[in-house]
Amino acid sequence: MQNPVQHVSALKDKNWWRQAAVYQIYPRSFADSNADGIGDLKGITSRIDYLKSLNIDAVWLSPFYPSPLVDGGYDVSDYRNVDPKLGTLEDFDEMLAALHNVGIRIFVDIVPNHCSHLHQWFQDALATPPNSPERNRFIFRDGRGEDGNQPPTDWVSHFAPSAWTHESAFGGVHNQWFLHYFAPEQPDWNWDNPEVADDFLKTLKFWADRGVDGFRIDVAHGLKKDLSEPFRMRNTLEHEIDRPADGNGILADRNEVFDVYKQWRKLFNQYDPPKVAVAEANVLPERIPLYASKETLGQCFDFRFIFTPFNARAYKENVTEAIELAKLNGSSCTWCLSNHDQIRHATKFGLDKSVDRRLWMLSDGTSAQLDKEAGTQRALAATLFILALPGSTYLYQGEELGLHEVTDIPESMIQDPQYLKNLKFDKGRDGCRVPLPWNSSADYFGFSSGASHLPQPAWFKNYAVDMQFGKPESSLSTYQVALRIRKNLMCEESMTWHETGNPEVLHFSRPNGWNCVINFEGDDYLIPEGEILLSSTPLVNRRLRAGSTVWIRQ
Ligand code: NOJ
Ligand code: CA
Repeated sequence: MQNPVQHVSALKDKNWWRQAAVYQIYPRSFADSNADGIGDLKGITSRIDYLKSLNIDAVWLSPFYPSPLVDGGYDVSDYRNVDPKLGTLEDFDEMLAALHNVGIRIFVDIVPNHCSHLHQWFQDALATPPNSPERNRFIFRDGRGEDGNQPPTDWVSHFAPSAWTHESAFGGVHNQWFLHYFAPEQPDWNWDNPEVADDFLKTLKFWADRGVDGFRIDVAHGLKKDLSEPFRMRNTLEHEIDRPADGNGILADRNEVFDVYKQWRKLFNQYDPPKVAVAEANVLPERIPLYASKETLGQCFDFRFIFTPFNARAYKENVTEAIELAKLNGSSCTWCLSNHDQIRHATKFGLDKSVDRRLWMLSDGTSAQLDKEAGTQRALAATLFILALPGSTYLYQGEELGLHEVTDIPESMIQDPQYLKNLKFDKGRDGCRVPLPWNSSADYFGFSSGASHLPQPAWFKNYAVDMQFGKPESSLSTYQVALRIRKNLMCEESMTWHETGNPEVLHFSRPNGWNCVINFEGDDYLIPEGEILLSSTPLVNRRLRAGSTVWIRQ
């Protein structure tokens, strides 16, 4: 076992991020220390032994800053503080020290595209007239029509029909509209204002000086907008493409955004080791390298596996394309199957292929179309596949337990603006944010001793940590062992495909003899020679069942 001193020196490695296993914590739903039903920072600290047992390299914390929680904390009202519901800055320091002490690094989430309508600067903006310096930190414009009662453009937002809201909705009296790419309670910053840029540098420095190792950048493709007038109306454009490849879209993925990240990079590089960053940029694949370059953020999520069915041909294509992209700028790949915005991958893989996921979610979600066991099994197989690939892997809390999406949250308890504001066209994302089950026989499954902020279904019991811990064939143990082996076998960032003679089976190896074979569908597959390190389902006579992955050392 390493002692803390060794951990500290390991934390100095400047390339640690390239092939890290990063575990995403959604703080409100991880562990609650004070019975108010909301997970908190002390709760995370109380579970350090669990995090250590996972053999992860880093955690990424979704926002824990003061927030009215219109969008699960992605509506920040104070960037340099901790939400009192989640703890204090001292609790943060204590958590960070505890993580570092066991060799786990930490990413925090930075939300630079928008803040909360309760942010002091937005309140100041509402209180001052057009063209005031306070108002200029946001994007306010006069409306169209005689009384200015029509929004300035026909631009749409993610969580509301229009990207503009009249200031009177929040008490403003100057008859202007403000821009928001997400909910009206998430006003967009004006990134053409140097004061905004300076304030974000201050925020980054604040957390970097506190000792965080990296940043996950929310909506990294937002920030810069085409605000030249006359505005480009969507209904007059020949093709209404939100994020075109030339970097000249209206609201997102504009080329000027890289000037911002070049400035951030300068700050990150002042630290030893340099702070790292991963962009959440929903852009065309060919634009990913621009966010992931050495001069900008360094790494960028590639979400392609989230949207890929469990299928051999698609998986092979994904890997090949993503590796090519990462090579373009010296970045490393970022594999992931789940996060707090997506239906849990165990559920996705358990649904019959003919099922429309969105419609299924809108039903009670308990229909016979979901084979939970098959879903969990395939999910584990997919996870072992991505964990063996060169590059880093981002895991989402609860996936190690094989957890499924919760689909029957009563409407009165739904929190997600995607459901509440977006014309209720889908169930939203609360179903993957339900608090973790720790203890099968405790109230609220050991998450809290008070009612959890999103209700946990009775079937969570079977997935609880205590039901799986130390049981070799459980999903949790498989993750723990896989991540331990992965750490020990970590090697040069390359891989080679091998012919399998079966279109449903993929086989690749890493330069040190670490081999991974996955069987997607159909007959059992006789695996090649070598020492069996781990398999997601038991092998019989070296035969790998459909929906399974094995790691072999040759
Ligand atoms: C992406 C985040 O992951 C998501 O949860 C959030 O709703 C939007 N950005 C807006 O911040
Ligand atoms: Ca709490």
